[in-house]
Amino acid sequence: MSFKISSSKRTLVSPQPQVSCPPDPDIPPNFTYQPRDHRTKERNHLGRRALIIVENQYTKTGKGIHNVLDALRIDSKVETIGNNLPMLTHGEKGKFAVIIFENYSTYLTMDSWNRQLLDKYCKNYNVGIIAFIQPKRDDVFLENLNDFPLTVEYNIPLVNYKLNIYSTIWRMSKPGRLYEGELAGNWAVFHFNHATYQPLSYSYLKSSLNQDPSANPADSKPKRLVPAIHDTGQLDGIQRILFGGGLEFWMHHMMFVDSLSYLSHGKLSITLDRYIQVDIDDIFVGKEGVRVKVEDVMAMLSSQKYLQTVMEGFHFNLGFSGRFYLHGNAEEDAGDKKLLEYRHHFWWFGHMFKHEQAHSLDVRNVELSMTLNKQFAQDNAIPVDQHYAVAPHHSGVYPVHEELYDAWRKIWDIKVTSTEEYPFLYPFWGRRGFVHRGIMVLPRQTCGLFTHTVFVTDYKDGLQGLEENFKGGELFLTVLYSPFNIFMTHMNNYGNDRVALFTFEGMVKFLQCWTNLRLISVPPVQLGINYFNMFPEEKDPLWQNPCDYKRHIAIWSANKSCERLPRFLVVGPQKTGTTALYTFLSMHPAVVSNYDSATTFEEVQFFNGNNYYKGIDWYMEFFPVPQNSTGTYLFEKSATYFDHEIVPQRVSSLLPRAKIICILIDPAKRAYSWYQHQRAHKDPVALNYSFNAVLMADERMPRQVRDLRNRCLDPGMYAQHLMHWLDYFPARQLFIIDGEQLRNNPIHVMHKLQQFIHIQPYFDYSQHLRFDPQKGFFCQVMNDNRNKCLGRGKGRMYDAMDETSATFLRHFYRKHNANLSKLLNKLNFPVPSWLQDALADDN
Ligand code: A3P
Repeated sequence: MSFKISSSKRTLVSPQPQVSCPPDPDIPPNFTYQPRDHRTKERNHLGRRALIIVENQYTKTGKGIHNVLDALRIDSKVETIGNNLPMLTHGEKGKFAVIIFENYSTYLTMDSWNRQLLDKYCKNYNVGIIAFIQPKRDDVFLENLNDFPLTVEYNIPLVNYKLNIYSTIWRMSKPGRLYEGELAGNWAVFHFNHATYQPLSYSYLKSSLNQDPSANPADSKPKRLVPAIHDTGQLDGIQRILFGGGLEFWMHHMMFVDSLSYLSHGKLSITLDRYIQVDIDDIFVGKEGVRVKVEDVMAMLSSQKYLQTVMEGFHFNLGFSGRFYLHGNAEEDAGDKKLLEYRHHFWWFGHMFKHEQAHSLDVRNVELSMTLNKQFAQDNAIPVDQHYAVAPHHSGVYPVHEELYDAWRKIWDIKVTSTEEYPFLYPFWGRRGFVHRGIMVLPRQTCGLFTHTVFVTDYKDGLQGLEENFKGGELFLTVLYSPFNIFMTHMNNYGNDRVALFTFEGMVKFLQCWTNLRLISVPPVQLGINYFNMFPEEKDPLWQNPCDYKRHIAIWSANKSCERLPRFLVVGPQKTGTTALYTFLSMHPAVVSNYDSATTFEEVQFFNGNNYYKGIDWYMEFFPVPQNSTGTYLFEKSATYFDHEIVPQRVSSLLPRAKIICILIDPAKRAYSWYQHQRAHKDPVALNYSFNAVLMADERMPRQVRDLRNRCLDPGMYAQHLMHWLDYFPARQLFIIDGEQLRNNPIHVMHKLQQFIHIQPYFDYSQHLRFDPQKGFFCQVMNDNRNKCLGRGKGRMYDAMDETSATFLRHFYRKHNANLSKLLNKLNFPVPSWLQDALADDN
């Protein structure tokens, strides 16, 4: 391979990827391998989750394992050694489908109580263990493993590696190949003499390969060693897969994925389909001197042809900015023209005309830029029918710039886009998709090539680094773990040294050699549909505060301000006095509430319903820009938030530091108040059915009656809803108000609340609230000394609850109230007097 780069005239011979795929010399003739399907009925008892046991939270192998599971979207629980493992007996969110030890000696030296618990769990659910062997010292030594007829030899330098073709665990890995090369690091190898052990792979002692066979013919056969084994469980009924090294070696990644699948009976299997899309951004945008020329375009076409033999229908996806057409030197302008001559051989998508960042433009200018680019496409007959677009520098996609989405829909009828920024750029395995206003936003992967990667020498470690990227490096691992891969490249990567063609051809060849992955290409809209069919739970976005991340602020409009977000929320539940609290808070000169919503009875109701899909710009419109951001306390009250399961996660994502206020009254009273509220609003069900009939509604009753029953009863299961909030917020951010106290002594409650939120200046409510005998509640004292009470809908007059319903509710809430009392005690929160009374009544 040779290249010579001259800045004036290129005399380079572009590098070609060298991917040799030598067969394992020991395989029988006509050997083929079908990837195994590991699914058995046993997987139905298991959850899609793994238990990882680590020495401490910071070790490299432990983190590596956790990252892999994250990338595979497998839920994992990390436990440090020394902790008890009661979660095995409880199994809250479904049973663990596999147990992973970052260091096998942790398992061997576990205290007998935990060890018995673990082994019993593994046997009961037929769940296996994966473990990595970590040497305790640097020298070569042998160790017999407690309890097992197994000896480990540590710190062995290995060379060449291959999989045992007779093992049944291979699914993603393709056995029958020989990896020729030295293995970095020192390895542990296994010696055994029992049928329970089956080698998973073989390697060779480094020195034995280099021996001179003529010296001693007996030594001429290289010494074969076993660096990974499968304990098939013949000894004690537990299957184990042991690795004599960590995840530094790329083959171990494939083997690890297969082990997860095999030991979990297919519960932790992931698809072998890998969708690949290669976007070429900045078409026409590159600087003069490094743009594509005629021969580069021809090379793109021939490379595309090759890629099509592997991925039927594959097309490079070209993103253009028309303004820069013919902006190179004479040779490069000929290249631009060649691209257009062959336009029907590629897929195209429109960019901004001048490659502007959408977040810095208003809607008129976003539209104008797109219209000009569209005009350019029409003038040059560029086929732009993929309904796909990408925003320069990810600007406006996430955090969402609504103007960009408006213009995309209006000008281009965009249905799918991609970004690296959701939820964050890093870690790259954590990127996900979402749908906003009908546009599918897919995660984009990095392939290591950027605008500045023009020549091989621009890449870290040059050609070797470029090769390593797909030969087991980051690019290889990306495809291994991600079923959907949209890679962003730039025009410059296709001219000059054509590093992109080198990379993708090499990647495809390497994947074909070593894996059973099926590489697939489909048009972008189909890609989006397939993505959300596979990950439907990702359709729902999870908005974050753009100001919490530097990269996000940089691509968010300067006209927007994160100060228009609340510092605390009153979350309900309904009928506990939330309006009174809202009104009292609004009286405070430093506290500012949201504006009223015309559609949802004054409340914004952003986090619980469809309003959430309108995005954070919509939400922020409900708040003024505070004059003085530190001295102004914005808040929002939506009483529906308290008992919606999805809300705590959404709130903690956007407002992680917000204080959460809720009010609790006797749940029986709350239920009755809700029923009366519905009657007052002329709800036909509440008018036609007595409270008792509603409470007794069973499956035979019409759905509307059962719905009303649920709305009466469900919010009052306080402990269970509070637990959801505590999953996402520390207890110190939560403030629970006793609703009876709010009703009878609001001055004291407002005093405590101000202390909790640290509101400055202090507002003395004793001067501004007083009891109104006529209303029967505390009301606001106006400047002219009149009382201003809440409207007729708050503090209604209605008959007392009938005795049968009261008895039913007392029984119904007994367990829930007891749980609430336990929870409040555990949190060191005061127990309201109504709760003490309710519990005393039960005894
Ligand atoms: P009732 O109307 O059933 O008595 P919300 O505002 O969350 O819908 O709660 C309404 C309840 O607030 C009322 O229910 C009432 O009991 C209670 N409340 C507490 N303090 C109040 C006050 N100062 N004025 C009016 N209602 C108050």
